[in-house]
Amino acid sequence: MVLPPANTTDLSIAADAARLVDSWVALAYLVAGVLFILALRGLSSPATSRRGNRFGMAGMLIAVVTTLITHEIASLPEILGAIAVGGAIGFVIARRIAMTAMPQLVAAFHSLVGLAAVLVAVAAFLNPLAFGILGLDGNILAVSRVEMALGAAIGAITFSGSVIAFAKLNGNMSGAPILLPARHVINLGTLVAILGLTAAYALAAQAGPGQGLAFWIIVALAFVIGFLLIIPIGGADMPVVVSMLNSYSGWAAAAMGFTLHNSAMIITGALVGSSGAILSYIMCRAMNRSFISVIAGGFGAEAAAGSGEAREQRPYKQGSADDAAFMLKQAESVIIIPGYGMAVAQAQHALREMGDLLKHEGVSVKYAIHPVAGRMPGHMNVLLAEANVPYDDVFELEDINSEFAQADVAFIIGANDVVNPAAKTDRSSPIYGMPVFDVDKAKTVMFIKRSMGGVGYAGVDNDVFYMDQTMMLLADAKKMVEEINKALAD
Ligand code: TAP
Repeated sequence: MVLPPANTTDLSIAADAARLVDSWVALAYLVAGVLFILALRGLSSPATSRRGNRFGMAGMLIAVVTTLITHEIASLPEILGAIAVGGAIGFVIARRIAMTAMPQLVAAFHSLVGLAAVLVAVAAFLNPLAFGILGLDGNILAVSRVEMALGAAIGAITFSGSVIAFAKLNGNMSGAPILLPARHVINLGTLVAILGLTAAYALAAQAGPGQGLAFWIIVALAFVIGFLLIIPIGGADMPVVVSMLNSYSGWAAAAMGFTLHNSAMIITGALVGSSGAILSYIMCRAMNRSFISVIAGGFGAEAAAGSGEAREQRPYKQGSADDAAFMLKQAESVIIIPGYGMAVAQAQHALREMGDLLKHEGVSVKYAIHPVAGRMPGHMNVLLAEANVPYDDVFELEDINSEFAQADVAFIIGANDVVNPAAKTDRSSPIYGMPVFDVDKAKTVMFIKRSMGGVGYAGVDNDVFYMDQTMMLLADAKKMVEEINKALAD
């Protein structure tokens, strides 16, 4: 048992000790912050991503251990119990989740961050003494009221927005935009109301523990606005939305950090918030969409409507695995473009094997990755890395696009939208303006997909299917590549 300090000397020793602990805590959080920044740096390239992950894990360990040993948030058994339950659920989900369901899983996780921010704000609202934010006049400090109101608002928007994003991506509700009349006016009005109520709550004369109807109205409005902001967004804009919600979840965590006086949380939240915002911007640029038009929503309505229409039948050439293997063997240079279908078929290992067999024949083999190929940022990079495709063989859109004109074969496996020339020529196309691979310039184009009926994410037909130099290889991607490999090896 610790005895209370007996005299002024003891008191000053206790104050010195507290200051020393604070300095060590600040230093530990700073080290954690630096490790998080190094983690982000490492994650920016597949070659350094493992190291980046390790930096991130070390930073998180330091931050968590420091918080646990210096703050009396809850008893250790309670914390360990919560970690065990959360860890077990996370473990089971991570083992079971299909790679193709990753975007909705990420959206579900963001919703939890948002909910946590709301719960922290509500806890601080009801019990400000425990958070050290109760003023001498019995009111919650004005600055803390602003932090709580904004933290709860961002958290609630993140929560309900992420729930809708999850439902759309998981197929629980239609992915098509739901457009309410006057939605911009409603959204803007609600946001202005939230800011006005935050000011009213901050300036209220009576703001003791649990006092302040404005706080509850802010939380309720924010839940509604999160819902309203995401329902009009559809089609190919969903990845940007997930990344934007990632950014929101970061800002919600940063706001929680202010309420909990935890600098590690403020740093981490700001890093997640800003990196999510930068990623959203990069993705918007890759899809040639302005960020504002994504937020305003509505994209994808035409695609959703168009995909149901019967498409005209046009002649196309179909080939077999033997035909493909023969032509690939004759080629000098092959550029492989993987897309969502490769992920569905889990064809990456067979594909790497095909690349190796061709290299063995003296063919130059390169892999071209579009920034929005697949269903999440880095989707193709992760799968190719899993199959041990050398990083040096993998190229970004802007680095390889000029090479298609000299390539003998553009080998498209489960991609569609990212190689659709309509993005360059058809102003009415929902993907118009998105930079795409110039596969139509290659001498031969091979296209693996399961049927002529299937369309890509944006739901539009692709003129490349019907070009003279295109050979359609209609089968499951993995099966087709395995057959090509067999033919190559014979
Ligand atoms: P998509 O345009 O979606 O095309 C996928 C193609 O794969 C389809 O042609 C489909 O045709 C084929 N396919 C599906 N399963 C297959 C299988 N088992 N074997 C062989 N083929 C199969 O893919 P993409 O070119 O990668 O473009 C990505 C699209 O998704 C873009 O519009 C992008 O904006 C959007 N998006 C991207 C992200 C991120 S961040 N990457 C997230 C969400 C949405 P069949 O059905 O005929 O087989």
